[in-house]
Amino acid sequence: MSLKSKINTKFLPKHVAIIMDGNGRWAKKQGFKRVFGHKKGVEAVRQTLEAATELGIETLTLFAFSTENWNRPKFEIDTLMNLLVSSLKKEIKTFQKNNVKLQTIGNIEMLPKKAQRELKESIELTKNNTKIILNLALNYGAREEIINATKIISKKIVNNDLKIEEIDENIINSHLYTFNLPNVDFLIRTSGEKRISNFLLWQIAYAELYFTDVLWPDFNKEEFYEAILNYQSRERRFGKTSEQIENSNK
Ligand code: IPE
Ligand code: IPE
Ligand code: MG
Repeated sequence: MSLKSKINTKFLPKHVAIIMDGNGRWAKKQGFKRVFGHKKGVEAVRQTLEAATELGIETLTLFAFSTENWNRPKFEIDTLMNLLVSSLKKEIKTFQKNNVKLQTIGNIEMLPKKAQRELKESIELTKNNTKIILNLALNYGAREEIINATKIISKKIVNNDLKIEEIDENIINSHLYTFNLPNVDFLIRTSGEKRISNFLLWQIAYAELYFTDVLWPDFNKEEFYEAILNYQSRERRFGKTSEQIENSNK
């Protein structure tokens, strides 16, 4: 029995987020420069997106560039930005064919103009697609996101457009970059690191976490199915008891 056929498509995570890590180590292991790992990583993105789309997952958020990644060597940053542009150009036809809607989270205005243009174009072209949202986290940092939301909310209060008493989870949610997305159900990180690295802090409050030693360029459809099967073996209790969950499933 294939891994894919073991997956119960009625109990899929709605929103899967992935910290795609290990490109540099993968390249070094083969005796190549780090950037070769990033190039190889694009194929893993393609496979993961295809697997998620086929299964019927509604949102896939991929951590592609963090606010901290600006601290890397300029050559590596330039390569990553160029890869983004060339991959978008290459994949747009597939997005249309597979009904993929592209969106981004993060402070996009700080990306190179070329990348901003390409993103804007791809987002516009795919805006009516409905099968899956591919959400790319670019120049994304959860703390930056929370600071940004706090500023917008504060302005509304100063302008009397919002009362302090009205601030609740929904208000916070609606001022984050992910305002139109459900909370993350399942967070995957590759490469054996067990940390969050400033990714989606608010949105993963009740996510199931999955860490695999596989380096991102080696991640593929089968690895994704294995992760989803692992998710499906868990009991999400949200503070309740196991008995309560069992009874509500009856
Ligand atoms: C993840 O791989 C890709 C990005 C952060 C852009 P890394 O480049 O972090 O790979 P390692 O962690 O150095 O192996
Ligand atoms: C997190 O990976 C960011 C992305 C995957 C884009 P890093 O490799 O930058 O994370 P740290 O710095 O090792 O925690
Ligand atoms: Mg890394």
